[in-house]
Amino acid sequence: MLDWTDRHCRYFHRLLSRHARLYTEMVTTGALLHGDVARHLLFSAEEHPVALQLGGSEPADLAQCARLAQRWGYDEVNLNCGCPSERVQRGAFGACLMHEPRLVADCVKAMADTVSLPITVKHRIGIGRDERYAFVRDFVGTVAEAGCRVFIVHARNAWLEGLSPKENREIPPLRYNVARALKADFPALTIVVNGGLDTDAAVQAQLDAGLDGAMVGRAAYHNPWWLASWDARYFGAAPATLTHEAVEEAMVRYMEREAAAHGTPWYSIARHMLGLRHGLPGARRWRQVWSDHRLKHLPAAEVMARARVPGAPKPSLCEPL
Ligand SMILES: Cc1cc2nc3c(=O)[nH]c(=O)nc-3n(C[C@H](O)[C@H](O)[C@H](O)COP(=O)(O)O)c2cc1C
Repeated sequence: MLDWTDRHCRYFHRLLSRHARLYTEMVTTGALLHGDVARHLLFSAEEHPVALQLGGSEPADLAQCARLAQRWGYDEVNLNCGCPSERVQRGAFGACLMHEPRLVADCVKAMADTVSLPITVKHRIGIGRDERYAFVRDFVGTVAEAGCRVFIVHARNAWLEGLSPKENREIPPLRYNVARALKADFPALTIVVNGGLDTDAAVQAQLDAGLDGAMVGRAAYHNPWWLASWDARYFGAAPATLTHEAVEEAMVRYMEREAAAHGTPWYSIARHMLGLRHGLPGARRWRQVWSDHRLKHLPAAEVMARARVPGAPKPSLCEPL
């Protein structure tokens, strides 16, 4: 998720679930071909399985980026056909690509011909107010012919005019039945549903309806501890023996390694774990300590120690900063 997630967030989420597939935020072909490749593609070995999501619409550029993804060790390349932002529309990719299924097919084919990684597509179920099922059915059919076997369906339309990207994740109604219809029409494809899933009951209802998987965005970010139950519940693994404290300690060790290797300040990593104690007593104070930039001169282990002292005065009162 652009502006929210990064490799540090994925490292954190991987501590909570060993099996959930993690996706990068969208990286544009322009950023990769003309920018700092390492900044966009670096990740820790622990993050596997991890997919690189690309934004672009030039088959040759996407193929070159897919090659980079393979070289850097990603497990999958996903093409974004769902982002409605104006910037992305100006670049003629993201959701507006749904109007051009043949071009998307060419993009998929160019990437599939270049690398051995699976090429997948994330898309909406329609553009604007057009809710005809045939539109998304034909999109999926055309793109599948080019070799895409996995479709991640954000089950609402993208309204390309008049709504901000945030509103475009909230206002167009969710229509999960469209994802189900796609699965019925294309039983051999893997259809993963996305959008508004924030409880196990909601996820299970989709799986029970025959969908092959669920992608969770915002709820996973805000309530990451939910992920700790997924390996047992959805992947048949033994129940997790994780504790919040062990995860926090592992993150502190990671912060120390990242600081030594790349000079990364602890707070640019800690921001992703602020929801770790979501719903637990003392969560607010714990979160305040970990998000207090006035502590930024302290080592991460010291911040953790302060965050853990129950009932301690707020950090800003402990000493002059
Ligand atoms: C801040 C933010 C950034 C996002 N960036 C991306 C992105 O880079 N690529 C993408 O495919 N979807 C992106 N999304 C959309 C989510 O992946 C997801 O499709 C959407 O939020 C609906 O799922 P959810 O209800 O589980 O969050 C973003 C969402 C948010 C909130």
